[in-house]
Amino acid sequence: MEVLVTGGSGFVGSHLCRELNERGHSVTALSRSPDVADLPEGVDTAVGDVTAYDSIEGAFEGQDVVVNLVALSPLFRPSGGDEMHDVVHRQGTENVVEAAEAAGVEKLVQMSALGADPEGPTAYIRAKGRAEEVVRASDLRYVIVRPSVVFGDSGEFVAFTKKLAPPYVTPLPGGGKTRFQPIWVGDLVPMLADAVEDDAYDGGVYEIGGPEELSLADVARAIHEAEGRSVNVLPVPMPVAKIGLSILGAVPGAPMGPDQYRSLRFDNTTEHNDCEAFGVSESELKTLDEYLQE
Ligand SMILES: NC(=O)c1ccc[n+]([C@@H]2O[C@H](COP(=O)([O-])OP(=O)(O)OC[C@H]3O[C@@H](n4cnc5c(N)ncnc54)[C@H](OP(=O)(O)O)[C@@H]3O)[C@@H](O)[C@H]2O)c1
Repeated sequence: MEVLVTGGSGFVGSHLCRELNERGHSVTALSRSPDVADLPEGVDTAVGDVTAYDSIEGAFEGQDVVVNLVALSPLFRPSGGDEMHDVVHRQGTENVVEAAEAAGVEKLVQMSALGADPEGPTAYIRAKGRAEEVVRASDLRYVIVRPSVVFGDSGEFVAFTKKLAPPYVTPLPGGGKTRFQPIWVGDLVPMLADAVEDDAYDGGVYEIGGPEELSLADVARAIHEAEGRSVNVLPVPMPVAKIGLSILGAVPGAPMGPDQYRSLRFDNTTEHNDCEAFGVSESELKTLDEYLQE
C-alpha cells in the first residue's frame, strides 16, 4: 500500500514508518522538517505544514491510507499559547481530511489520546476531541487510536519526568498521585500498522494502555532507581502547584502553565484496554521497568 504518515518524522512516526516499511509498504513521512528525522532508507519525505492546506495537498495524491500523527506536545506550553492546540490538532486535522478526500484516499488512521473530549479540561484534550469529530464527520473510512503516554527510544516521557521530578527530594503536585498507563512504542506501533492494513478495524475507537497503572511518583521512582538514585516525594498541595504554574504561565516563553497543572488533576488510564483487539494481551506488553533495565 501507499501510506502517507503526517507527523511521520516525530517519535511515534519514525517508529511507525520503520514498521510499515518493513511490512513492505511504500511510505512517505510528511512534516515541516522531515529530513532531519531518523527514518529508514526507502521512506520518502514530503515537506508540509498541516495548518497550511496548499503546502500539504500534493503529498496526498496516490496515497491509499493516511496516518495522522501530527502533534503539539501536551507536556509543554506551546509557543503561541494553548490555542495552538486547536490550530494544529483540530484545524490541522480538517486540512488533512480535506486533502485526503480530495485525493481519493481510502482511509485515515487518526492518532488521538486517552480522554480526548471536545469539552475536556485542557486545550490539548479538547483539540484532540474536536479532531476526532472532524474525522468521524468525514467521508473517509477511519480508525481512531487513543493511547496513554508512550515511552521508548527518542520519546520525551522519561526525559520530561526526570525534569519534573528530580531525584532525592522530589516535590510533586498532589504527591505525584496522578496515574498513567504507559505503553512502549514498540508495542503500540504494530497495532497502528495493523489498523492501516486490516479493514476489520475500520470505524473503531481503540483505547490503548500499557500493562500497568503507575502514579507519577511510581514513574519517577522507576526512572531514577534505574540510574541508582533514590526518590523521596515531597507532596506539593495542588492549590500551591496551581498558583505556581499560573504564575509561570504568565511568563512569556515559560515551558509549563495552567494547562499542565490541569492535566495532572486527571488520571490517564483506561478501564477498557483494547490491546487484545490487536491480538496482544496486557501481560505481553513491555513494562516501563523492563524498558529502563535494558
Ligand atoms: N508521545 C506520547 O506519549 C503520546 C501519547 C498520546 C497520544 N500521542 C499522540 O501521538 C501522535 C504522535 O505523537 P509523538 O509523540 O510522535 O509526537 P512528536 O514526536 O512531537 O511528533 C510530532 C510530529 O508532528 C510534526 N508536526 C508538528 N507540527 C506540524 C505541522 N504544523 N505540520 C506538519 N507536521 C507537524 C513534527 O514534525 P515537524 O516539527 O518537523 O513539523 C513531528 O513529525 C500525536 O497525535 C500525539 O498527540 C502521543
